[in-house]
Amino acid sequence: MSPLQVFQTTEMLSAAAAEFILDQAQRAVASTGRFTLALSGGRTPEQLFRLLRTAPFVRKMPWQNTLIFWGDERCVPLNDERNNAHIAFSLLLEHVDIPAANIFRIPVDLPPVTAAQQYEQTLHRVFDPNAPRFDLILLGLGSDGHTASLFPGTNAVEEKTRWVTEVFVESHQMSRITMTLPLLNQAKNILFLVSGEEKAEILTKILKPQPENPAYPAQLVQPENGHLRWFVEAGAAVRL
Ligand code: 6PG
Repeated sequence: MSPLQVFQTTEMLSAAAAEFILDQAQRAVASTGRFTLALSGGRTPEQLFRLLRTAPFVRKMPWQNTLIFWGDERCVPLNDERNNAHIAFSLLLEHVDIPAANIFRIPVDLPPVTAAQQYEQTLHRVFDPNAPRFDLILLGLGSDGHTASLFPGTNAVEEKTRWVTEVFVESHQMSRITMTLPLLNQAKNILFLVSGEEKAEILTKILKPQPENPAYPAQLVQPENGHLRWFVEAGAAVRL
């Protein structure tokens, strides 16, 4: 499978992503008995979430053996429309037969520092502390080159040891909790989902880096021993 696939519509991108997730889930469960999946936030994955709760995915996905995490979370109330987990629950998780114990929300009802520490402890319980290798992490791309909540110029991008950190995002006037590059780059599979013409410029800067351009956070996602893939809707690919 090519590292970059362009789809005519977001619907086609979402269908391909659902197929990819199903394939990875079936492979992971066959080999390890579980599928560890980190969901991305924002709007792009919404159609994918709706697809995964419908046939054939709702029946074929090994929900009982799927563990759900988030790559990042906004520090807003758990039932806030901006909360990434709230979106995933309302569009997907409330509609599929997945045990509540398989879902690991980032505890943003706690102070940011505590939330990050607790989520990291949770990951240490689920993964080998020396090799936290997610089977698949979904990521989105912001127009400023951020991914997860690794925003340009923030401490989170510079973090070299912690797996999860808190970050205050000036541009959004909001604290967030995010997986860090040391964790993301351990993943077996990373799948970026990018849609919309507003992403065309940044996507070109990231996939066709020029010496004068800074290294955007999304460019720093380079799995050490895993596969990096981009599923891009045609509008976002117009300048490639
Ligand atoms: C978040 C996301 C963030 C998102 C990008 C793209 O919490 O906002 O994790 O990294 O994926 O900003 O967002 P859209 O899909 O809404 O364009």
